[in-house]
Amino acid sequence: MTQDELKQAVARAAIDYVVDGTIIGVGTGSTANFFIDELGKIKQRIKGAVASSEATAARLKSHGIAVFDLNDVDSMPVYIDGADEITAQGAMIKGGGAALTREKIVASVAERFVCIADGSKLVNMLGKFPLPVEVIPMAHAAVARQLSALGGEARLRMKDGKPLMTDNGCVIIDVSGLQIADPGAMEARINNIVGVVTVGLFALRGADVALLGTAEGVKRMAFA
Ligand code: 5RP
Repeated sequence: MTQDELKQAVARAAIDYVVDGTIIGVGTGSTANFFIDELGKIKQRIKGAVASSEATAARLKSHGIAVFDLNDVDSMPVYIDGADEITAQGAMIKGGGAALTREKIVASVAERFVCIADGSKLVNMLGKFPLPVEVIPMAHAAVARQLSALGGEARLRMKDGKPLMTDNGCVIIDVSGLQIADPGAMEARINNIVGVVTVGLFALRGADVALLGTAEGVKRMAFA
């Protein structure tokens, strides 16, 4: 199976976690896009969705799914999103698509985080994938120095020769070369750097369930 076929398989499996008549939190990225396409097929069963990025909002709308402002939503049973890396304990690196801040905000309101990914995303230790950190633009050099002091190499993410701008008007620093043995401690430490908006570690509030696409089928992991 190709990586896309594995992503499609977990996107289909994630439909089992959709609660009828509710608003669904929806992530960002290629796996989330496959999920949105599946959600489009059962859109009459849900009230609508909250999007974690402008790109996701546009794709949801293209399927005729109502997109709600998070401020108008009191509760959300489930948030469904991909990941760049996930451990057997449900801690994740996210933000490869630069949507980490809104992803973390929408996930924080949901009762359950369902991570959907192809099996290659399962790792023993987080850090091989460069850790994304969203930063206030005027602080990027100062924050990069502090991130480098943690032992990694901090680089401003560029697009078309310019710093990539997030949906929030901020920039992303990617930190490579970290070996993140204690993701929760690292998340708290980086959150505490002045100028950081969000770190792409989802450990203090990790996944509740992971659906991983493998050649043998979709593997389900649940985290207490
Ligand atoms: C976007 C994300 C994505 O969930 C992550 O990058 C995985 O993407 P994909 O499903 O394309 O592999 O965090 O900010």
